[in-house]
Parts: sequence; structure tokens; C-alpha cells
Amino acid sequence: MIIDGKKVAAELREELKKKVTELKSTYNAVPGLTVILVGEDPPSKIYVRNKEKSANEVGINSEVIKYPENVEEKVLLNKIIELNNNNNVSGILVQLPLPKHIDKRKVIETMNPRKDVDGFHPMNVGNLSSGYDSSIPCTPLGCYLLIKKIEKNLNGKHAVIIGRSNLNGKPMIQLLLKENCTVTITHSKTKDLRAECSRADIIIAAVGRPKLVKGDWVKKGAIVIDVGINKTDSGLVGDVDFDEVSKVAKAITPVPGGVGPMTIACLLNNTVECFKKTQSN
Ligand code: GUN
Repeated sequence: MIIDGKKVAAELREELKKKVTELKSTYNAVPGLTVILVGEDPPSKIYVRNKEKSANEVGINSEVIKYPENVEEKVLLNKIIELNNNNNVSGILVQLPLPKHIDKRKVIETMNPRKDVDGFHPMNVGNLSSGYDSSIPCTPLGCYLLIKKIEKNLNGKHAVIIGRSNLNGKPMIQLLLKENCTVTITHSKTKDLRAECSRADIIIAAVGRPKLVKGDWVKKGAIVIDVGINKTDSGLVGDVDFDEVSKVAKAITPVPGGVGPMTIACLLNNTVECFKKTQSN
């Protein structure tokens, strides 16, 4: 079975559109998302355009603030403080990567954690790992929702995550632990990745290595979620060898059309959740 991320994301956007309409009639206000884009990184420009378009489609007010590559860190931090204090802004997202002269950590920590739609602020990271209410990073949340579509009960399942990034691998651990999975996290220094994967009921591949996961690494009936987006001479491919793995997996996400659309839908979800938090206080 091929997991249709586009379809699941469209369903989620439909639900969010209804929620935004309800919120509008309750609070006479709609959620607002402000995205900050620094520089001219081509993939970032595409992501930001897609985020803005999708937000508007569900009725979220979205705004993109663009700065040149050489913007001073202070200017960026002051803008974040201004957005923190703006009641029309429910969610703030600073698109990564940032230029080297800007301290990513400072940028994230300047943000009001209640407006942190990415879930990158240490307060949200800590709350997620303690099992408390938090913003959850969009890509792992998207992966999690796709897995839950296939399998409601994940009790005791062995999940193997490939890649230990703050954006995906680490928050993914928490989401799966909460579902009572046994979680293995692997990375570039893992001794025998193939052996680790061969024991998995669920594989989440997020390392940026084209077609790394092969058919004979995967147990029959496993669920395979491919977060990779790698540009190759033969086009966009994931971290999983789709042709091989789709023959053994119970369910697999394609690239494109799997995790990607879910990431944006989850960002909209997080914006709505941040709005609700600011309205209820
Ligand atoms: N760049 C690539 N993915 C992301 C993401 O999820 N959030 C932000 N802020 N930047 C990114």
C-alpha cells in the first residue's frame, strides 16, 4: 500500500478550514502566521511560498517578512520581539537554514514559546519530552499522523528512526514512545544499520541519503516513512529505495507526495493550536 500523504493532508486542511471558521465566529478573529525568510535559498523560498498559500487557503492570515542575506542579527531579534507582542500574530516561523552570522539558537529562544509553531523552542522541546502539552515539530507530527492512519495501536511495535536531527529524529522518539513503541534511534555512526532496520515494524528514514534503505533491509509487513527529499540526476528521490521496499513493506510513503504535504498541513494545525492558546488566556 502506498500512503497518500497528499490526500491525508487535504483532509487535515479541510478540518482546519472548518475549525478556523468556528474560531472566527467565537472570537471574531482568525489565527495569524508570520513567516520570516532570510536570504535567497531556493528551496526555502519554495517552502515559504507553499506555507503562505496553504495558510491562506484554510483562512489563516499569513504574512511573509523577507530580509536580505546580510541582515543584522539584532534586526531579526527585534522583529521577533515585536511579533511576540502583536496580538494578531498567533504563530511565528523563522525559515531555516539561517546565514552563518546569525545565531539560530538566539533566534529560537527569543520567540515566545506559545507562538513557536515549529516546536523548536527549548520550552516546547522539554514539554514534549516530559509528555506535557507542547508545539510538536511539523515533520515528525506529519510522520506520526501517517503512521496512525495505517496502524491505530502501536503498543510494543519496534520503531527504527534513521537520523538524529532536532527537526525530526529526536522529536520522533518522543511521539513514538508516547505510543508505547520500542524506539531505536540510528545515525551515521551506527554499526550495522541494515541489521537495525531488519528488526523494525516501523522505519522512519530522515538522513538525506538517496535510496539508502534497500528492500532486503526491511521486514515483510513493515510500515516505512520516508522523510528524505534528495535531488539526483534522475529526479527527486527519498532516503528509501521505493521500488525495492514497496515490494516488502505493508505501507510506504512516496517521494514526493508522502510526508511533504503533511508537514505543511501540520504547520497550519500548530498555528490554529497556538491561536487557541492565546485566546484562552
Ligand atoms: N527548514 C526546513 N524544514 C523546516 C522546518 O520545519 N521549519 C523551519 N523553520 N525551517 C525549516
